[in-house]
Amino acid sequence: MSSNSEVSQWRYEKFLINKNSNFDKNKILKILTSKDIDEAYKIISNWDGYSSTPLILLNKLNKKLKINKIYYKDESKRFHLKSFKALGGAYAVEKIIQGNNKKTISTATAGNHGRSVAWGSQKNGLECKIFISEFVSESRAKVMRSFGAEVIRVKGNYEDSLNECIKLSNKNDWQIVQDVAWEDYRLVPKLTMAGYSVMMKEISKQIKDEKISHVILQAGVGGMAAAMVAGISRYLNYIPQIIVVEPNSAACVLESIKTGKIEKITIEEESIMGGMSCGEVSLVPWEILKESIHFCVTISDDYVSKTVKNLANKAFSDEKIVGGECSTPGISSLIALSNDLEIRKQIDLNENSNVLVFGCEGDADEELYQRLLKE
Ligand SMILES: Cc1ncc(COP(=O)(O)O)c(C=O)c1O
Repeated sequence: MSSNSEVSQWRYEKFLINKNSNFDKNKILKILTSKDIDEAYKIISNWDGYSSTPLILLNKLNKKLKINKIYYKDESKRFHLKSFKALGGAYAVEKIIQGNNKKTISTATAGNHGRSVAWGSQKNGLECKIFISEFVSESRAKVMRSFGAEVIRVKGNYEDSLNECIKLSNKNDWQIVQDVAWEDYRLVPKLTMAGYSVMMKEISKQIKDEKISHVILQAGVGGMAAAMVAGISRYLNYIPQIIVVEPNSAACVLESIKTGKIEKITIEEESIMGGMSCGEVSLVPWEILKESIHFCVTISDDYVSKTVKNLANKAFSDEKIVGGECSTPGISSLIALSNDLEIRKQIDLNENSNVLVFGCEGDADEELYQRLLKE
């Protein structure tokens, strides 16, 4: 592996132990229930074209890091949408329109959630309006249009696009399908998370009798991470170490874990990991994450293109893997944590460990992916 000497230099930015950690399966499954989780699997696994995404062994990287196994859940193969988000938004659209006569769905998005909502709307014969900020690439907008959505670009950041979405949706009686929860908006984000939990069901079957010791979960607003924690509670009969990774410029979960309450942070510079560049953890995920996370870590954008290239060039595994920007931080943070001998001891990471990381997306933004490959 040509990158051997190079990865030994990789470093994390911040690391935090959650002083309030107390993983309680029953408490977690009261927030996202087994019924919610089972129903999502039953419905989604019956969708046309459904199949489990691959669980790939990074069988070169584990040797370098002196870890028993590293499993990589490859969401580039999720339907034809190229990210795990295909499971959430589209499922929430399908569920929420039952017993409601709204004809138009709306959402604000960094890209992949909107693609899923557009796809779900199209499948269900509904109109779809998608609000994006000035930071979302035109290449992502184009894909959402290809699923029949009208894409509305809003000046400012993600939060501005969400505010505009809420304003126009209230005015025009559109059904908002958002993956972020707020005080009186919890059902749709919960449905979204129930959809994501399908990944954990698949993994629990794919690992057979093997036990996962550590799970590294990417967080933007925390929906995916919390859904995996709920999935772990539902499908595994043990509790792995739960590590949440965020871009260093958008560590809203880490900052909240530090104080024990939701902290809103100011993003000075948008991370290239666009789907994870979020300033505030969402309400429902927070209720799950606040006691279930064991450790938080942050990582700089410097390792995004390096990881993308190593995945593509088979430096980490025998298989060539197409992983986009948000599929990288699980791997780069694992490398960085492994390089720190004190941390290895602290989090019990060693040659017996089986680590699970999530390759959340493929080349969902094709232009950016090509750029990252060439960088
Ligand atoms: C493309 C993409 N968007 C968003 C997220 C974050 O998900 P959430 O906002 O639910 O935490 C991820 C996680 O890695 C991702 O890959």
